[in-house]
Amino acid sequence: MSQSLVPYIPEDAPFTPAQRSWLNGYLAGLYSYAPPQAIADTPQTLRVALLYGSQTGTAEGLARKFSKELKAAGHTVLLASLEGYVPATLAAETHAIFIVSTHGEGEAPDPAQPFFQQLCVEHFPLLGNLLYAVLALGDSHYEHFCQFGKDLDAKLEGLGGTRILERIECDVDVDAPYAAWKKAIGNRLREIASPVPAVASPVPAPNGETNASGSQASAIHAASPHTASPAHTRDNPYLATLAGKRALTHPASSKLTMHLDFAITDSSIRYEVGDSCGVVPENCPELVDTVLGALPFSGNEPIEVPKIGSVPLREGLLRHFAITKLTRKMVTEYAALAQCKRLGGLLAPEHQAELEQYLHGRDLVDLLKQCPDAVQTPDTLVRMLPRLVPRLYSISSSPAAHPGQVHTTVSVVRYHSHDRDRGGVCSTQLSDRIEVGDRLPIYIQPNKKFRLPQDPAAPVIMIGPGTGIAPFRAFLHERRVIGATGRNWLFFGDRSAATDFLYRDELESMLADGHLTYLDTAFSRDQEKKIYVQDLMLKNARQFWGWLEDGASVYVCGDATHMAKDVDQMLRSIVEMQGSMSREAAEDYVHALKDNHCYHRDVY
Ligand SMILES: Cc1cc2nc3c(=O)[nH]c(=O)nc-3n(C[C@H](O)[C@H](O)[C@H](O)COP(=O)(O)OP(=O)(O)OC[C@H]3O[C@@H](n4cnc5c(N)ncnc54)[C@H](O)[C@@H]3O)c2cc1C
Ligand SMILES: NC(=O)c1ccc[n+]([C@@H]2O[C@H](COP(=O)([O-])OP(=O)(O)OC[C@H]3O[C@@H](n4cnc5c(N)ncnc54)[C@H](OP(=O)(O)O)[C@@H]3O)[C@@H](O)[C@H]2O)c1
Ligand SMILES: Cc1cc2nc3c(=O)[nH]c(=O)nc-3n(C[C@H](O)[C@H](O)[C@H](O)COP(=O)(O)O)c2cc1C
Repeated sequence: MSQSLVPYIPEDAPFTPAQRSWLNGYLAGLYSYAPPQAIADTPQTLRVALLYGSQTGTAEGLARKFSKELKAAGHTVLLASLEGYVPATLAAETHAIFIVSTHGEGEAPDPAQPFFQQLCVEHFPLLGNLLYAVLALGDSHYEHFCQFGKDLDAKLEGLGGTRILERIECDVDVDAPYAAWKKAIGNRLREIASPVPAVASPVPAPNGETNASGSQASAIHAASPHTASPAHTRDNPYLATLAGKRALTHPASSKLTMHLDFAITDSSIRYEVGDSCGVVPENCPELVDTVLGALPFSGNEPIEVPKIGSVPLREGLLRHFAITKLTRKMVTEYAALAQCKRLGGLLAPEHQAELEQYLHGRDLVDLLKQCPDAVQTPDTLVRMLPRLVPRLYSISSSPAAHPGQVHTTVSVVRYHSHDRDRGGVCSTQLSDRIEVGDRLPIYIQPNKKFRLPQDPAAPVIMIGPGTGIAPFRAFLHERRVIGATGRNWLFFGDRSAATDFLYRDELESMLADGHLTYLDTAFSRDQEKKIYVQDLMLKNARQFWGWLEDGASVYVCGDATHMAKDVDQMLRSIVEMQGSMSREAAEDYVHALKDNHCYHRDVY
């Protein structure tokens, strides 16, 4: 399509200047698309660093696709993960495009964390020659929507980089905003590369909003009219029937881990082993009643829920707002309402540790009790509250072995604090408040970075203590059904063999018939000194090294805070010792494993 055909919004159209500018940018992006051959004919091209920060593969997938298109347009593209990318290299780049997601509570995805930490060090070299753009992926249900994209954008600007296109923030359905963004950025690169006058203008937010860094951003949400909604997403989940539910732990165990089986036969849901299942939970009705009991409201008062509309307060508290945890924002707003000096004092930066101690193990009920009359209207209450977000569970079934089913392996969160028994929202709903035959909203969260090796003959090493076993049960069933001949080695651990050996019968039978080559178990509390999975890796270090050298893929799933870090350290130590390498060479070896898609983590 010729550039002269690009439509534009006239000056007298009923839009503000900011809205008009955004729409013109959007239309330019949409209409000025030139087929790859035409772009390839442009006289000048650029060297572009295309850098992605991705945890579950969405940003990576987009970056890979975009890389092909940029190359087709004649640009020289350096495609790289931020994992292992040395930030100082940026100083030598002139054009960098970032596609990054946000994880945790508004944080960088794990692989991008070291990069961002290094970028934030004092006296980081200025990036005065850098022209850059950020595509931020996120999910607007989270309190800190696209926060890492925002932080990265602000940091690059702070270091002297020049933004060539305003940051776009994509909600869960990325396809339409990505398509608009890539056209706009393609145009900007063409403008920069060639002396032809500009066509596409930057894309500021339709409402002209300005973020903390002073930059503008355009958020394109799932609800955007340009977005084609895929069948079942977290905004349009599938009501799955619970077909089976059983405890995997013995009644005498100190915890409860359950196996839940959802029927998806009559749905369009598809998944692959390695994916997670999102569950859209509800709060405990008794807790909602306790909250209402602490307030002067009946629960029938209408409240507005963003993206949902008007619902009675009780329904809002049950389905849409988080009430089981306290956040700094809640305390800040409540302290202001209640004019409470004690709570207000906790918010001072020098009292961060005391604030964290106060937040730990308390919920909305505890806060409301501090000053019973502080909240006067239902709207004031819900404005304080974060949204209730879905919980993810690594799928423990294989679509090949368990057609029409999604299995999950759920550890039930219960604890006692500040004189009350408390529970995790979703895991207690699954264990206490739904029965076989009931329906529950679920969706699939793809995890493209946690896939079995393409070569069915390749060996795999799986390390998954506790609920970390979930995807490995799926892997093992899948590999059996597809007839994969590669060797399988599983490291599993839990508290006690007698009470917590999850899927014991299945695993022992796979070991007996040879499908599992090795099964190493670490039952931490069965002896005085704790034994963990990484101790068994060390015990079998020579063999472990042999498998690595044979091209094995290593997978780790489960606790991110301690286990995954310790296992990672052990992997490095084994490589160092068995490969007779320096620590640096061992680090490089492990980096190479990641780069070659032989080291994958699904940790939470
Ligand atoms: C990709 C991914 C895969 C996952 N896979 C699995 C899986 O296969 N199986 C599984 O069981 N989980 C899995 N999880 C974790 C799961 O999503 C939920 O986080 C978990 O079930 C807890 O959710 P909940 O709603 O029950 O608890 P929440 O309502 O979220 O409560 C948990 C919170 O309670 C508080 N808390 C807990 N214990 C205490 C205590 N002792 N004292 C004070 N406060 C406490 C903490 O603030 C904690 O963050 C996965 C998570 C991710 C991101
Ligand atoms: N970020 C989070 O909020 C988070 C992270 C992980 C798990 N969880 C929740 O915790 C609950 C229990 O999880 P789970 O059943 O999967 O596992 P778990 O009971 O916490 O642990 C499984 C096994 O791992 C051992 N372990 C503890 N520290 C380890 C370490 N540093 N290295 C290796 N192994 C270690 C445990 O030993 P000991 O207990 O005897 O030390 C136990 O034997 C779940 O509800 C889960 O959602 C929450
Ligand atoms: C555990 C978890 C935490 C998340 N936290 C946030 C968040 O704080 N803010 C946000 O905007 N999106 C958040 N998201 C959504 C992701 O950014 C979004 O799904 C993105 O498309 C993932 O891209 P990736 O696959 O490249 O990592 C979170 C997702 C998960 C699974």
